[in-house]
Amino acid sequence: MSEGKKVRIGIIGFGGIAQGAHTPGYRNIPELCEIVAVADILPDKLATAQTKWGITDVYEDYRKMLERDDIDAVSVCTPNAVHSIATVDALKAGKHVLCEKPMAMNPAECQAMIDAAKSTGNKLQIGYNMRFGSGAQCLKRAVTAGEFGEVYYSRARAIRRRQVPPSPNFLDKSRSGGGPLIDIGVHITDMTLWLMGHPKPVAASGQTYNKMGTKPGGMIGMWGTWKPEDYGVEDFASALIRLENGATIGLEASFIANIAREEFSTHLMGTEAGAFLDGYSNDITIYREEFGTLTDTKPGWLPDAGSTHGAEIRAFVTAIRDNRTIEEMGAATGEQAMMVTQIMDAIYRSAETGREVVIG
Ligand SMILES: NC(=O)c1ccc[n+]([C@@H]2O[C@H](COP(=O)([O-])OP(=O)(O)OC[C@H]3O[C@@H](n4cnc5c(N)ncnc54)[C@H](O)[C@@H]3O)[C@@H](O)[C@H]2O)c1
Repeated sequence: MSEGKKVRIGIIGFGGIAQGAHTPGYRNIPELCEIVAVADILPDKLATAQTKWGITDVYEDYRKMLERDDIDAVSVCTPNAVHSIATVDALKAGKHVLCEKPMAMNPAECQAMIDAAKSTGNKLQIGYNMRFGSGAQCLKRAVTAGEFGEVYYSRARAIRRRQVPPSPNFLDKSRSGGGPLIDIGVHITDMTLWLMGHPKPVAASGQTYNKMGTKPGGMIGMWGTWKPEDYGVEDFASALIRLENGATIGLEASFIANIAREEFSTHLMGTEAGAFLDGYSNDITIYREEFGTLTDTKPGWLPDAGSTHGAEIRAFVTAIRDNRTIEEMGAATGEQAMMVTQIMDAIYRSAETGREVVIG
């Protein structure tokens, strides 16, 4: 891009995450970019774009929006089932793409996205925003500096007590690809793999449970109620993921579980130190043996990283303006995000077959 030019953005899918994170994220850096158009299949979302957000150019068919040559980049904020097709169409139309997580429904869809980015030379970033938290960034610096020695195990949790997103976009498997594993398990898996330096996943073994969401008569939901007959995904999953360097990750994900509270966390265990990271509060503790004793270290202060979504959007826009790679910006590349989808796919297949599934 020519120096000083603002990146011109289109948004595909104008629901919760588009209005809650992407639109404010781009609007917070007006010196770097501007939102010029929005596409959604629902006319009321387009009306909201115009009346609430002042985005006048709206499209019911995103392909019409992609025909514009004055749009440089798009955010793909649709339900999961549309991620791959919209991303491939956008890349082929000459746009850079920031696609929401999970990257896609399965590894084949991810591969199509990676291929389109490679063949067009356009940038592809996936919305794994939790990496940008100040606690995660601090731990990443510590791991990279070798403070943990060899990290051979991580315990990753994205567990909710009774927080079910009561929309078919999350509960109808044909639209979402699965339940808490693919919705929130992916976030903590990405963060954990990133902290561990992305060793290649080689196998996964897991179990999924659908014991609660379909209970006749329904259950209390902290985010509203759903019809048990519409609950088509797992409510809990547990898994063991094997990585090529011999390390493993134990993963738990739930929408519904009889537990104390919601937890998004990763616990790294290394030969020189361990650490616990609460991905929501950014609270971190590092466990070591030093000074002839066992110590638990907490930062006295962490820089305010601001919104993690805001940080990922700034990274995307900066990569385009300054022609830097997504990896250089510390954001999730297509190849990294595909590892997460390969893992989820292997866990779902393992749950079906009752056996460990080899990846790749
Ligand atoms: N990174 C995060 O923290 C985070 C948080 C929430 C959601 N998400 C992800 O964002 C995506 C959207 O989630 P949401 O909560 O905003 O859902 P949502 O249902 O609120 O919004 C999705 C929007 O996409 C539109 N849409 C559907 N098909 C379309 C198509 N073919 N073309 C254009 N628009 C289309 C829908 O009409 C809807 O307005 C999901 O993939 C979800 O996993 C990420």
